[in-house]
Amino acid sequence: MKIAVLTSGGDSAGMNAVVRAVVRGGILKGCETWVVREGYEGLVRGNLEASTPEPAPPTFPDLPPETDGDVNLLHNLRFGDGQLLKDGTGDYIGGRTLKGRYIVRVGWDDVKGWFSEGGTLIGSARSKTFRTPEGRLAAAHNLIKEGIDALVVCGGDGSLTGADVFRAEWPSLVAQLLSECGSGSKCDLIASSRLCWIAKITREQATAHAHLKIAGLVGSIDNDMSMTDLTIGAPTALHRICEAIDNINSTAASHSRAFVLEVMGRHCGWLALLAGVSGGADFIFIPERPPAADPWEDEMCEHIQRHREVGKRKTIVIIAEGAHDRNLKPIKADYVKDVLTDRLGLDTRVTTLGHTQRGGSPCAFDRILPTLQGLEAVNALMEATPDTPSYMIGIQENKITRVPLVEAVAMTRSVADAIEAKQFDKAMSLRDPEFRE
Ligand code: F6P
Repeated sequence: MKIAVLTSGGDSAGMNAVVRAVVRGGILKGCETWVVREGYEGLVRGNLEASTPEPAPPTFPDLPPETDGDVNLLHNLRFGDGQLLKDGTGDYIGGRTLKGRYIVRVGWDDVKGWFSEGGTLIGSARSKTFRTPEGRLAAAHNLIKEGIDALVVCGGDGSLTGADVFRAEWPSLVAQLLSECGSGSKCDLIASSRLCWIAKITREQATAHAHLKIAGLVGSIDNDMSMTDLTIGAPTALHRICEAIDNINSTAASHSRAFVLEVMGRHCGWLALLAGVSGGADFIFIPERPPAADPWEDEMCEHIQRHREVGKRKTIVIIAEGAHDRNLKPIKADYVKDVLTDRLGLDTRVTTLGHTQRGGSPCAFDRILPTLQGLEAVNALMEATPDTPSYMIGIQENKITRVPLVEAVAMTRSVADAIEAKQFDKAMSLRDPEFRE
């Protein structure tokens, strides 16, 4: 099996550990391993025809010595022009070029030291082109051209939805590519597509790829995917926020101030809720459960006033970036600050943590989880048949799980639908089946 791994959407700590686990797990199982740079965008762009053949990297059991060999992709991406390859023009020192190459074969040593690296070394993007039928056709073409028959996608719900669409469309994409082959044995899309850099595949290659195996891993700091307890990167982001609250707590107490903290999470309140509980916040706003009262200002002020009366010298209010009231009107940090200042007379500051929540080295759990899930993804792909669904690899009650990707995507969508329909209890119980009022 030829297996490729890509990271997509917003980066999250632990994505490099995913790539490492898939590459090394794949090699140990006898697979040929590849990475796709820049997410789905790299899949669409594929590889320019190489003028000189790339040397094949060593694979297990011929492990290279413990040195940074000339196939060290980490070195390549970090120190070469490789990290700025959006336009495919980068080059690199050390004998191996990534110029014009988005789908790159990798070996054991290429992912050495990736455990502790933040972000994603193979790059990520939110690809607009992949959302178009032409883009997906190009992506199918590029995978087939390299002979890749299995794909691991690590990303958030949007990226996994993309994976789901891709797999569902795969037979028709292959049929389309076959029809492009015309009467000859070569398929030439150059004339027929706007994506004119596409090279050639043969009818035989297209026919041999009637099925694409896909496994999804959830990499997102938001922890917003259904049917899994935790997403890769969420624990690290939570740690970052807790540290920030601890830091703010001391200065807030010194001046007897109030702080309003906005945290990430898109439409999900997990980061805000858990950080608020862990950091001893006074009031928390999350999208799934707006304040019971409408308007909510009195409710918040009563809570905070009570805390002040029992002797608290500081006030912390956490707002999830997607928070809103019961009428879906966004709740903004500056407005909350004004309410605290005007109604309670508190000296109030706003802190937006921004991307400090997302970057940096993964915590231990964000190394273990992607490793276990990456290995499980390889196993799931090895065992996949045309009849098995694409799996999302999750974790439930401390066990690594496989759930049909299509179901997880649909259930995640239904949380957003419930919020839009103002069915907040339903949204909460979809997020957490144990939820009780
Ligand atoms: O999905 C991850 C996330 O960090 C969200 O929490 C946030 O809304 C968004 O990405 C920010 O995206 P960007 O990095 O494109 O500004």
